[in-house]
Amino acid sequence: MAQFNTIEFKDGVLKLIDQRKLPLSFEIFECKNYREVDFAIKDMVVRGAPAIGVTAAYGVYLAALEYKNLTKEEFLKEVLRACDILYVSRPTAVNLMWAINRMRDLINTLKEDSIDKICDAIKDEADKIAKEDENINKKIAEHGNNIIPQNARILTHCNTGALATSAYGTALGVIREAHYSGKNIFVYADETRPRLQGARLTAFELVKEKIPAKLIPDNAAATLIRDGKVDVIIVGADRIALNGDTANKIGTFMLSVIAKVYNVPFYIAAPTSTIDFNIESGKEIVIEERDSREVTHIEGIRIAPEGIDVYNPAFDVTPNENITGIITEKGIITKPFRENILKLKL
Ligand code: MRU
Repeated sequence: MAQFNTIEFKDGVLKLIDQRKLPLSFEIFECKNYREVDFAIKDMVVRGAPAIGVTAAYGVYLAALEYKNLTKEEFLKEVLRACDILYVSRPTAVNLMWAINRMRDLINTLKEDSIDKICDAIKDEADKIAKEDENINKKIAEHGNNIIPQNARILTHCNTGALATSAYGTALGVIREAHYSGKNIFVYADETRPRLQGARLTAFELVKEKIPAKLIPDNAAATLIRDGKVDVIIVGADRIALNGDTANKIGTFMLSVIAKVYNVPFYIAAPTSTIDFNIESGKEIVIEERDSREVTHIEGIRIAPEGIDVYNPAFDVTPNENITGIITEKGIITKPFRENILKLKL
């Protein structure tokens, strides 16, 4: 089992594994205030939908500590302002907004209490979000393992492991569970251009845990699938609409289309906090566009000519018709997605 803390709050400091540096160096990035948390999320020191949510929650606590000596009115104003800033640190993963909304609701409920009491409650809530994420991931893994056949060859995209969550992971958590339950699985991990979360992070976790795997360039997936070498595809999610349309790392949609053509089951694994009950379809999901340097440069070295324009969306939306099922902590959601997703809200 992966023995590292992706996110750890200790001695008034939020300690994050610096995912920009993995796997070549293992460094801890320390956030001592919410502005550093905002930077860490934006610059992808920490990334992955659930991990961003947990990190932002601790960011709110750092803001509370910073402003605890102000008057109550000023304290509340500043902490809620920090919430607003963290809320927009990345636009697509809804877990971020979900975690901040939990913090805002808590602060609004406690606003008549003492500042000390509010600070303690904010810390407890952040710890709770982190712990819940770990427990939820274990449940996702157990449900997901039911759809993994013995000797399965599984393809995955991006990084959805312990590094993308509090612990264990979502899609990679399912893979982990299948491996540890003795299923003799084999994993194909997409390298995931341009940030290479697959090559740098998923490969890191797979190697660490000795899960049999091959790293593949993204553009090798179609050939593998056509040649019958993939039994099931499992990926994570950043936001799921009521109709099941799912935003995930750029390239996921392309995989889903190939999977459909060749009849390979295509699963999403995500906590229910990734479902946006406020949106009907993927059309309403804001897709983050990132810096052109992610495409024109590798490790700071220019690989594309000066002057070329770049389109660099960080996510895409897989339409619900390409999705076999959504593995959540509450079970596996199948079609009709809208009806079955709404049942989760009850
Ligand atoms: O840009 P990233 O690295 O934050 O994107 C991550 C993904 O797209 C993951 O697949 C998703 O957040 C699920 S992580 C359990």
